[in-house]
Amino acid sequence: MEKLVITGGTPLKGEVVISGAKNAAVAIIPATLLVNGICTIENLPNISDVKLYCDILKDLGAIVTWNSEHEVTIDTRKIDSHKTPLDVTRKFRASYYLIGALLGRCKHAIVGSPGGCNLGARPIDQHIKGFEALGATVDVSNGNIAASAKKLVGTSIYMDVVSVGATINIMLASVLAEGTTIIDNPAKEPHIVDVANFLNTMGADIRGAGTDIIKINGVKELKGNATYSIVPDQIEAGTFMLAAVASKGDVVIKNCITKHLESIIAKIVEIGGNVDANGDHLRVWCSKRTTKATIKTLPYPGFPTDLQPQMGVALSISDGTSIINESIWESRFQYTAELNKMGAKITAQGKSAVFEGVKSLNASPVYATDLRAGAALIIAGIVAKGKTEIYNLNHIDRGYENIEEKFRKLGAKIERVSE
Ligand code: EPZ
Repeated sequence: MEKLVITGGTPLKGEVVISGAKNAAVAIIPATLLVNGICTIENLPNISDVKLYCDILKDLGAIVTWNSEHEVTIDTRKIDSHKTPLDVTRKFRASYYLIGALLGRCKHAIVGSPGGCNLGARPIDQHIKGFEALGATVDVSNGNIAASAKKLVGTSIYMDVVSVGATINIMLASVLAEGTTIIDNPAKEPHIVDVANFLNTMGADIRGAGTDIIKINGVKELKGNATYSIVPDQIEAGTFMLAAVASKGDVVIKNCITKHLESIIAKIVEIGGNVDANGDHLRVWCSKRTTKATIKTLPYPGFPTDLQPQMGVALSISDGTSIINESIWESRFQYTAELNKMGAKITAQGKSAVFEGVKSLNASPVYATDLRAGAALIIAGIVAKGKTEIYNLNHIDRGYENIEEKFRKLGAKIERVSE
């Protein structure tokens, strides 16, 4: 088993280059199933969820060639299956995209239920609502989701809940449908726009991604032989921004899209940090103790739930009492119990948590409970006095490429050690 060992107390200084977005990559890789041809994806993050998805496509009959650590060519001309078993799909959340992609390509899909971070109930009723609206029959039993359709016909679908996964899955299932599909009340995250841009590069006709209405005009087929580069990861960028603020450092974040970071920039400035944003890079620095804030996580462009734990670390050592309302997930405060082991004073109750700012955190062995909680614990170790040990690194490696190397380049005293 591996652990991270961090000796805290060093303000982060220097430059970090952001990788491609995990939540775009884990949608675009299955989206290649819709193209009966070859496509190349660049700027892929080198993370376990991406490698897992490429192995899944191979099992479905695709030829997957790694041209470099961050670039893959996928040939889906010989897809010979529409089934992926539960023991594979339960390893991560984004396996649900196989349903939309295989339904769109083969009109059949038998996909094991998704797994993913333990954030509470993670229903997929909106995904199923979309597939059924398009004319598919969906059966959920024995841990599998079986969807099939004689044909898929475009229609109007109102999302009862703003859902990233359902928005993308309905997009995947409708690009080759007959007629026009309207998705009303869709999610607007940058990775939604990236998936739409990728599909349009292949000849799809998707308009309005990133707005309140997405319109998909079904096309007969998509064209291969295209190359697409994944958007920079807004959440990785925000993670390093909050690490810079919490450690009272001075960091330049390169290869990001500052437009995607407006809510994080606003909150960092509100608590006393400084940000100088310039299109594809920004400088973030903080030289004094931060002050309290009230955070409410919301769908994009609101404050992202995937930066809530990282913001929680900064608030745990800010002046005054802060509050976080987690409006997206029922159970995304598990990390606060780990921070309290480090001397934080956090009371989490349901979807809210109260942070009574303390002077400093102290080292302790702590356990990552999910991907972003793991990132938050790394920030906590960097700011804490003493040597912090972080376990359950598999969570972190699912979504962050070479995270300890990137932090080490910023001056953090961090090592990955095999126990
Ligand atoms: C995606 O999860 C991300 N994962 C999550 O990031 C992120 O936290 C979440 O979107 C919100 O931004 C991937 O993209 C792989 P949702 P997803 O459907 O699609 C409810 C990370 O750290 N809902 O937008 O599962 C749901 O319960 C991960 O990178 C329904 O009720 O999230 C939640 O309350 C963690 N019915 C809300 O909607 C549905 O059918 C948003 O969920 C679907 C969702």
